[in-house]
Amino acid sequence: MQYTWNDIEQHIAACTQCPLCQTRHLPVMGRGSRQADIMLVAEAPGGQEDQQGVPFVGRSGEYLDRLLGDCGLSREEIYITNILKCHPPGNRDPKEAEKEACFPYLKYETFLLKPKIIVCLGRVAAQRLISPDFKITRQHGTWTYRKNCALTATYHPSAILRDPSKYGAAKEDFCEIVRKREELQ
Ligand code: URA
Repeated sequence: MQYTWNDIEQHIAACTQCPLCQTRHLPVMGRGSRQADIMLVAEAPGGQEDQQGVPFVGRSGEYLDRLLGDCGLSREEIYITNILKCHPPGNRDPKEAEKEACFPYLKYETFLLKPKIIVCLGRVAAQRLISPDFKITRQHGTWTYRKNCALTATYHPSAILRDPSKYGAAKEDFCEIVRKREELQ
């Protein structure tokens, strides 16, 4: 059976596959264009995302919008999601069991979207999707090719919030992502 976007949305809304369902306020499904060539994958919703049920609405979202805008991109033309759909209390790193329980949702999102480019925002997403030993400081901006998809990683916007000197490198990575999209047309 093939799931639709609606099915996935409903499954996520009612999900009880891991204990985060007991502490979350709202699950956070991916958002953006369902025709997008570019899918951004971050780690897990933060506190404000948990309250609103929308990815990147907090302060790191402001940085993300600035980065996108500086490279001529907007949220409306990309798709943004997370490895975990529920907020881990205290913003702790996702646990292995939580990532495993939630992974099928990301797989369905990827299957339905069929992005040409997947951008991992930060270490947690890069280590889950590109390579378990991915080092974001050394390997951000590098490309890995799988089937019909090019994968890359850059700094998580909240890492830029903590250390604004990373902004320039993340901007270069995003501008390269825009060039890659043209190359893959
Ligand atoms: N940080 C994330 O990793 N994801 C969000 O949706 C918001 C903040």
